[in-house]
Amino acid sequence: MDIKILEKRRHEVMEQMAGGIAIIPTAPTRMRNRDVEFPFRPDSDFYYLTHFPEPQAVAVLVPGRAQGEYLLFCRDRNVEKEIWEGQRAGIAGARERYGADDAFPIDDIDDVLPGLLENCEKVHYTMGRYQEFDARLMAWVNEVRDKSRTGIKAPNEFVDLHHILHEMRLYKRPEEIRLMKRACKVSARAHKRAMRACRAGMAEYEIEAELIYEFKKGGSAAPAYPPIVAGGANSCILHYTRNDAQLHDGELLLIDAGAEIDCYAADITRTFPVNGKFSGEQKALYEVVLAAQLAAIDQVRPGNHWNQPHETAVRVLIQGLLDLDILYGTIDGLIEQEAYKPFYMHRTGHWLGMDVHDVGDYKVEDVWRLLEAGMVTTVEPGLYIAEGSNGVDRRWWNIGIRIEDDVLLTRDGNEVLSREVPKTLHDIEALMAEGK
Ligand code: GLY
Ligand code: MN
Ligand code: MN
Repeated sequence: MDIKILEKRRHEVMEQMAGGIAIIPTAPTRMRNRDVEFPFRPDSDFYYLTHFPEPQAVAVLVPGRAQGEYLLFCRDRNVEKEIWEGQRAGIAGARERYGADDAFPIDDIDDVLPGLLENCEKVHYTMGRYQEFDARLMAWVNEVRDKSRTGIKAPNEFVDLHHILHEMRLYKRPEEIRLMKRACKVSARAHKRAMRACRAGMAEYEIEAELIYEFKKGGSAAPAYPPIVAGGANSCILHYTRNDAQLHDGELLLIDAGAEIDCYAADITRTFPVNGKFSGEQKALYEVVLAAQLAAIDQVRPGNHWNQPHETAVRVLIQGLLDLDILYGTIDGLIEQEAYKPFYMHRTGHWLGMDVHDVGDYKVEDVWRLLEAGMVTTVEPGLYIAEGSNGVDRRWWNIGIRIEDDVLLTRDGNEVLSREVPKTLHDIEALMAEGK
């Protein structure tokens, strides 16, 4: 990432802060078991402003500070530790490679930070995210308060930095869109590979392995979220991640998986028949979900409000369920009674970006916000007819279908970033027929 772009982002934050100081820690490292850590992934807000990839780092922005406005606390170089853990940027690297105006060893933060808080009115901070860090910040503030008799003033205003940062992150800039396109491209290859590889008798985790193979090959450090590889009845479990069941002839397989590239997520779902040929019932329900998805994507354009794609998808889904005699009544009546909810219990999309369920408000002053160019949303309607669904003929049972794409709002409409993954009945069956 161009260091100038990051500098611009930090300036934009500082302009909006109107004084005070901003403190942004990266994510803590977490233990997985005994002495094994979970793979480290930086905090999204921190990374958005710094692109600093190492753990144990804190960025501080001090607008107007004569000796430099951007301070970075990070791990010092350490020859011995680096033999085991790899190279660190160190203090010099933080300045030279990451553009910090000033850098300090993270081990000195307890000595340095209280000084920065002296006579500073306002602290901007992503409060409540990391409890350990909240406690440390309060300890630093208390240290300054203890000096009040010497005339030093402690901060008296704490502002949630979310408002500034998350509004910025909602509008993706060209360099972010490039990364999201890469994430989608890698994920598309993975979904296509999974479709080609799928055979009855395989285990869900074998298909997951095909996905991970393409993610890694495409340069993704990790999936953006745990992949869902759900065959048969499991396709009706929304957050199924065990991925350990066997796939059977005649069942559907629902895959919800996306790669993360440089901390930007893809989030893509496709549903296809394990044996490569949709049954009559699977076809009928699939066509309904696809029609709902296409109609919803058509509503993703500037000027429409956030909920329009969802409202459209719900109407198309209900009409489909009426046509198939799964529901009875009128569209408006069924919406009013929420009678579709046993089969469609989630919303049609969410913001997508550095976090899979990305930041950004959905309402402004209590009304759905208008869609604007640069926003990225998923569009992911589905239908899930679980076994034993009341009043539904058993031929529909255990069919869970979701179709999810990642959609960028452009000036005059939208671009489907994940369009390379087939989603019509014909295109899916054709790709599956190719085999591995
Ligand atoms: N993969 C999570 C979601 O679709 O929201
Ligand atoms: Mn999603
Ligand atoms: Mn998803």
